[in-house]
Amino acid sequence: MQIHSDFHLRVVEHDDGSGWLPSPLPGVERRMLDRVGGEVARATSLVRYAPGAGYENHLHGAGEEILVLAGVFSDESGDHPAGTYLRNPPGSRHTPFSREGCLLFVKLRQFAADDLSTVRIDTRQAPWRQGLVPGLAVLPLHAHGGIDTALVRWAPDTRFSSHRHPGGEEILVLEGLFQDELGDYPAGTWLRNPRGSQHTPFTGPQGALIYVKVGHLGVGGQPPCATRSSPAFNAYPV
Ligand SMILES: [Fe+2]
Ligand SMILES: [Fe+2]
Repeated sequence: MQIHSDFHLRVVEHDDGSGWLPSPLPGVERRMLDRVGGEVARATSLVRYAPGAGYENHLHGAGEEILVLAGVFSDESGDHPAGTYLRNPPGSRHTPFSREGCLLFVKLRQFAADDLSTVRIDTRQAPWRQGLVPGLAVLPLHAHGGIDTALVRWAPDTRFSSHRHPGGEEILVLEGLFQDELGDYPAGTWLRNPRGSQHTPFTGPQGALIYVKVGHLGVGGQPPCATRSSPAFNAYPV
């Protein structure tokens, strides 16, 4: 299966409530955002657990990254309410479930082989830091091999400088309205700006909260050679 599998292309997926498909497990549905492969895939998805749904015990062959968007997601390591960021590295296993139901943003099989840290961050309690321009606040979630992931909160009427993404950029809009010269992205929108793309993002009166990952969109989805010494890379709010 190939969904938005050409990582050279810009993709904007608005959330119109459609596109949900049953998974092989009862009570678990998913909306595929990008995918290369079948049931074992390099994949980015929204995943919805009905109350009481669970998943079989599974091995994370190439890692699993999760942001809990709503409800409570649980596994052997505990209960993870909305706002929790999890990384389950290559070689880890778990048996996830949800008592009350939950909505997750999930990225599968996108870890570097040496990215072996287990991460659990409660983003509703963790400290934020000031971003590069007034009105911007950043909560770093993970950094490894030139790939950075963060939550970025944009106060109303914040404007960032024009910048380029040497290794691409992926954004999920969590709250508010995120904008740039190419469009408007309300909460629920997922966008992928390819390697080398450029834009000037801003917010209006609503402000915005976004999940953002940069540096991971090389040729064929392989991590590119973006380095922290790149001036353009350093210009980004992450
Ligand atoms: Fe998992
Ligand atoms: Fe950007």
